[in-house]
Amino acid sequence: MSTSSTVILGTGAYAPARVMTNGDLTHSVDTSDEWVRSRTGIRERHIAAPGEETSDMGVQAARRALEDAGLQPADIDLLVVATVTPDLIMPAAACIIQHKLGVPTNAACFDLNAACSGFIYALDTACAMLSSGRYKRALVIGVEKLSAIVDWKDRTTCVLFGDGAGAAVVGLSEKPGIGLLGTRLGAFGECVDLLCIPGGGSSAPATPESIARGDHCLKMKGKEVFKLAVRVMDEAARDILEQHHVRADQIALVIPHQANLRIIEAISQYLELPMERFFVNVDRYGNTSAASIPIALDEARRAGRIKPGDLTLLVAFGAGLTYGSALIRW
Ligand code: ACO
Repeated sequence: MSTSSTVILGTGAYAPARVMTNGDLTHSVDTSDEWVRSRTGIRERHIAAPGEETSDMGVQAARRALEDAGLQPADIDLLVVATVTPDLIMPAAACIIQHKLGVPTNAACFDLNAACSGFIYALDTACAMLSSGRYKRALVIGVEKLSAIVDWKDRTTCVLFGDGAGAAVVGLSEKPGIGLLGTRLGAFGECVDLLCIPGGGSSAPATPESIARGDHCLKMKGKEVFKLAVRVMDEAARDILEQHHVRADQIALVIPHQANLRIIEAISQYLELPMERFFVNVDRYGNTSAASIPIALDEARRAGRIKPGDLTLLVAFGAGLTYGSALIRW
């Protein structure tokens, strides 16, 4: 077991070129820009082009993260992809990305499904594997093509989601006290029904009837998810701060899962931290599930909002219902 720190060496993000505004959505469902903006803070989202796959977006974000880290695909020996929208149910998107990116065949490659908490779960997994001393450099990708699983006739969900990818290159450092200081992960498996895709899995293989019913599309009980999200994100944030004897006001920047501006504002109130300490880009991306935190992390770094020595808190919740928080010293 290594005593080194696990540190983020580079980040990258990618969003498809096509932007769909709230106004565009009013042509297909009974909604309005005012309703979507006031309920969620979302103004627009990016939508993958025909033929643009989850793996393609993951590759783009990964290339940018590798460039930022000054590394090559050949330097990677661990590739973890957090996604609920892999190109195929089998095999893993990680293997498709490995091939398209040119990551060596001696790299461990797998997908991880923790929905919107996926990036934090994947980061923790990669860091633990690096700390074991058996891997040297990991590529952690959060990527989603949610446009493929959204019911575009259901106004209660289709206005919320978008496509995109974010990535981080993670490695080991001998400098103590920096990098991933800790995580707090958990799940409420009894809440599966609040947010799920009921059809297409092994319990309900696709039939003409299930497809006609739209069972292969995402279903959500929005109000219940909202209430639970606020509670579990607040708890996950408090737990990790307590574990590490850190006060909320010592956090330079919180990067929350970007699902809904009202959820982020509620967390800001509960933690008594002003909104200026929260990174928000939900207005431009909507909810990109596992991609939301790594996209925001990359934007925050490139905008100069994360400085050496800063403490950053990541916090998320997602289908499962899963939750997670992570504390990073830069
Ligand atoms: N446009 C116009 N009206 C709408 C729309 C829409 N797009 N969607 C719903 N409405 C209507 C409803 O039909 C309802 O009408 P009614 O009162 O006549 O029945 C009314 O607006 C209010 O609907 P609510 O569901 O009560 O609206 P609410 O204020 O709760 O907001 C929302 C809904 C935005 C979905 C909110 O509940 C939410 O954000 N929940 C959390 C969702 C979330 O974060 N999901 C991500 C999970 S992470 C993951 O793993 C994918």
